Amino acid sequence: MSLSTHPTPRRAISITHGEATSDGDGVKMTRLIGSRAQQPVDPFLMLDFFGSDSASDYIGGFPDHPHRGFETVTYMLAGRMRHFDNHGHEGVIEAGDVQWMTAGRGVIHSEMPEQQSGLMRGFQLWINLPAAQKMQPPDYQEYKAATLPVDERDGAKVKVIAGVRGGVVGPVRAAHVDARYFDIELSPGAYFEQKLPEDHAAFFALYEGDAEVAAENGPQNVKALSLITLRPGEAAGLTAGAAGARALLISGRPLREPVAWGGPFVMNTREEVLQAFEDYRQGRF
Ligand code: CO
Repeated sequence: MSLSTHPTPRRAISITHGEATSDGDGVKMTRLIGSRAQQPVDPFLMLDFFGSDSASDYIGGFPDHPHRGFETVTYMLAGRMRHFDNHGHEGVIEAGDVQWMTAGRGVIHSEMPEQQSGLMRGFQLWINLPAAQKMQPPDYQEYKAATLPVDERDGAKVKVIAGVRGGVVGPVRAAHVDARYFDIELSPGAYFEQKLPEDHAAFFALYEGDAEVAAENGPQNVKALSLITLRPGEAAGLTAGAAGARALLISGRPLREPVAWGGPFVMNTREEVLQAFEDYRQGRF
């Protein structure tokens, strides 16, 4: 029993800085999860951060490409991206908006910048689906910035996209892995803490400023851009440095299932991946 009102924060397992890469038609980005430096964090397959005010870094966008077997979560911080899929679903994702797409058995879509210049900045996360949901019909959950609720106290302004914080309920239903998704803005020196299910995989993606986190050998200072994976435990905690900090906190229940990953398809077996390529070629998406 502890006299402290704070639960013990999870300690960092690893702190990595991502890998410069490009995807789609030459879009430059930093891969924070799903690279050699940081393997997938079950159930999270990939996390990309894109941020540039140079159009040549993003103007090619992501022309038509398929997905099967997982979810993609696009969260824009700046700029505009037009989304269009082969089922007729279309829309523009703008600064502060989130698109939570369950690809399920398959979509073919394009994600193209809706701007010729200026800053484009945001994240795309891939969340694996359990075997039983990999072939479900595609589904979209889309929320404009103004409809995403914010919990603000003690120098922490937290946008709740999925999960609950201080009675504030995020609108995204993320039942497959019980995902939580928070965007955190901290004043200089502010402490952020969030209770999480103990068995959830969890990480911070620190994208502005610097912060202190609990690590194996005591507190450690971390600068943006960093991916901080956390041990299992009751809460995640972070203290902003002198310039404040911005970070995502994301968690989810590990699936502990075999992962067969072939390009844009993530299934449980190699045969299912080959079937996905065949279905795509045969126009069955
Ligand atoms: Co895509």
